[in-house]
Amino acid sequence: MSSRRGWFVVFEGLDGAGTSTQVRLLADRLRRERPDLQVAVTAEPSSGPAGALIRQVLKGRTTAVTALGQPQAFDRRALALLFAADRLDHVSCEVEPLVQAGWLVVSDRYVWSSLAYQSLDAPMEWVAHINRFAPAPDLLIVLDVAPDVGLSRVDASRPGREIFEREETLDHVAGAYREALKVLPAARACVLAGDRPVEAVAEDVWAAVRDLLT
Ligand code: TYD
Repeated sequence: MSSRRGWFVVFEGLDGAGTSTQVRLLADRLRRERPDLQVAVTAEPSSGPAGALIRQVLKGRTTAVTALGQPQAFDRRALALLFAADRLDHVSCEVEPLVQAGWLVVSDRYVWSSLAYQSLDAPMEWVAHINRFAPAPDLLIVLDVAPDVGLSRVDASRPGREIFEREETLDHVAGAYREALKVLPAARACVLAGDRPVEAVAEDVWAAVRDLLT
């Protein structure tokens, strides 16, 4: 097994910012132009057990019931803990083993999603605290779009909306992302305007990743 360390690259942004598209385009281009690298694509919520539970909650398929039989929404602070638990599981099962073995791992979302979204329902310092064991990535790429642009892309891409996909909610999340980047600055970060043509954004992503690799 190789002892060289690889890289961990993270994409962040509001719902509909284009992170999944850009992660895919970056991985395709790396595989074409850098066949010497081993590239893995991953995401949060992850494919692990906590990630599966989180996806049910996001779709509203896990309505909680009180001891008195009253239906109520899943507790948002419990959801914050699930995201933090999923992150450590994702890091220990996927990210760290691959990076230690020399792979370049690209994740669609990471700790800044928790800081931005879960601080709607709990203090950001608590969210940072429960995520303090998440290792820093080598590069953070933030795709910046207005909430209405993101939501119209979400609506065009699939039926139905998840619990955070409302314009007022995403307005708050956008402000919280700005705050999150101050609370937890990344050693190497770039914020790209995500409301441009996909190819233009992909070119800027490529430049940032090329810089990291050289
Ligand atoms: P998203 O990544 O947009 O995936 P999909 O396009 O498959 O729905 O959805 C994940 C949602 O979860 C999104 O609304 C952001 C939210 N989220 C958090 O609230 N906290 C987190 O820590 C993470 C990783 C995601």
